[in-house]
Amino acid sequence: MNDFSERMNQYKSAVEAYLESRFTEELPQRKLFDAMRYSLLAGGKRIRPCLVLEFCRVCGGDWEKAIPFAAALEMIHTYSLIHDDLPCMDNDDYRRGRLTNHKVFGEAMAVLAGDGLLTAAFSTAASADADAKTIVDVVSVLSVCAGETGMVGGQVLDLEGEGKHLGEEQIWTIHALKTGALIRAACCIGVLAGHGTENQLAAAGTYADSLGLAFQIRDDMLDVLGDAEKLGKATHMDEKKSTFVLLYGVGKCAQMIEKETQKAIDALDAFDDRDFLICMANKLAIREY
Ligand code: IPE
Ligand code: IPE
Ligand code: MG
Ligand code: MG
Ligand code: MG
Repeated sequence: MNDFSERMNQYKSAVEAYLESRFTEELPQRKLFDAMRYSLLAGGKRIRPCLVLEFCRVCGGDWEKAIPFAAALEMIHTYSLIHDDLPCMDNDDYRRGRLTNHKVFGEAMAVLAGDGLLTAAFSTAASADADAKTIVDVVSVLSVCAGETGMVGGQVLDLEGEGKHLGEEQIWTIHALKTGALIRAACCIGVLAGHGTENQLAAAGTYADSLGLAFQIRDDMLDVLGDAEKLGKATHMDEKKSTFVLLYGVGKCAQMIEKETQKAIDALDAFDDRDFLICMANKLAIREY
């Protein structure tokens, strides 16, 4: 457990230091950089970049060289949160313990800060100290997982589902896309960065799919049961959404999380050094923020 916290802190500090160094230029569009940094440096859990770095390490790669890949993914995740909070989407006032981006910088700047982060993610990934094929593969995974058949596609289904009673399969698809896709990107990019085998790439994808599903079920549970202070975002915001909590109640959701967490752990046979990834899955299953 201590090893887990130590390694997690090491990864987080490395990613934070890298992000801190970005978008600092004194240019006429300085306000845009301030808006990008406001959300990027607001202290998220950094789950996705840590997964990138750990999957790289367990495949035998140099995790420090994968920091730009990890940071690129965190930029895309942060952009997704800025846009997710906009009045035209979930209309949230708090995120990562502070006012949402549009509440501080206005809607137009929040849209553009998201655009800026999304776009910068690709040059960030391209700047990694890696061979050309790895960079192309990583950029391709980032694009596919973030885009219309990944996270953005899921966000559309999530909005279209508002006010409707969706079935299990439809909710599963929404979770898999809006949240699962970026978690899948994290795990697969780590394997690519560490030059893992095809077998390890497939195993990372399987781990990610179950972890992502459990992660979003827990997110939906915390909207009902969580503490806004700890979460850094308001609770009871999902009243219009069709979630597993609405469909099955919190008891069944807790069981589903347990089952998916076990499936994630079972997928790790392809890796010799799996303690951190097992611990990550177990901790996320019972997270309170
Ligand atoms: C929040 O993601 C959005 C979801 C996909 C549920 P996180 O819970 O990882 O948010 P941060 O990065 O820690 O703020
Ligand atoms: C967010 O899902 C998914 C993305 C941002 C892509 P939610 O809308 O449930 O996330 P929170 O609860 O606002 O963090
Ligand atoms: Mg949303
Ligand atoms: Mg939301
Ligand atoms: Mg939520």
